[in-house]
Amino acid sequence: MMGAAADRWRELQSGRGVPPEILARAEASPWTHDPKDFAAPEEPVDTPSRRAALDLLGPGGGTVLDVGCGGGVASLALVGRAAHLIGLDRAQDMLDAFAVGATARGVPYDTVLGEWPDAAAAAGTADVVVCHHVLHNVVELEPFLTALSAAARRGVVIEMLAQHPMAWLDPLWVRFHNLHRPPPATTDDAVAVLAELGVTPTVTGWERVNPPRQHPAWVTRRLCLPADRVVEVAAAMDELPPRPRLAATLTWRTA
Ligand SMILES: C[S@@+](CC[C@H](N)C(=O)[O-])C[C@H]1O[C@@H](n2cnc3c(N)ncnc32)[C@H](O)[C@@H]1O
Repeated sequence: MMGAAADRWRELQSGRGVPPEILARAEASPWTHDPKDFAAPEEPVDTPSRRAALDLLGPGGGTVLDVGCGGGVASLALVGRAAHLIGLDRAQDMLDAFAVGATARGVPYDTVLGEWPDAAAAAGTADVVVCHHVLHNVVELEPFLTALSAAARRGVVIEMLAQHPMAWLDPLWVRFHNLHRPPPATTDDAVAVLAELGVTPTVTGWERVNPPRQHPAWVTRRLCLPADRVVEVAAAMDELPPRPRLAATLTWRTA
């Protein structure tokens, strides 16, 4: 049975959809991501998430499943300690970028195309499961988290922003569409869902050095506005406070 925290997460996340009448007028999909924006840096960034995963891998290393891998920032940072990587993503272009990164680093890997948790059986288990910046895409968090734990022989590392990554654009939804959003889901909301599953993660809050880029053209598309309004959107973005950089690492052992 779903708990109150899982219900709250669903409600907050559902409130961030785009109303169908706005979506219907969009020139291009507001949801597409460019894999280039998620490419893994050549030198891994030393973050609490990376340190938590290395700790779970231990000096002897092990296998890693990267759920919602994108270009592999989370798991490719573990090369040297990770003996084998599995990248799972629902987008083939992201898996292609992951494969390029793994090949360049000479680490053995597999890819699984599919939606977590439906594709969990295809991915199998790994010593360590990492899942970075995916939770805010998820509406039904309880089965998603349960499957992460079930896939991990040693432990799980989640990285997420302190609040929904698109919440900084909420003033622009009001300005351009008169659309008022509910408050964004936060790390505390995710931790509350884990508590309902009997999991108490170690939570480390930190500030990202390299926050994702914010091109006005991308924001224009995200707001379902035509490309010829990009100058207007860029001007409106200049009036926003800086994009929040607070992130959190949530980690727990499964054995
Ligand atoms: C914001 S990106 C993060 C990518 C990478 N983990 C990182 O930290 O750079 C989210 C990724 O998760 C994928 N994704 C979102 N929900 C998913 C799901 N339920 N199952 C599989 N992939 C998912 C998206 O396709 C996208 O590649």
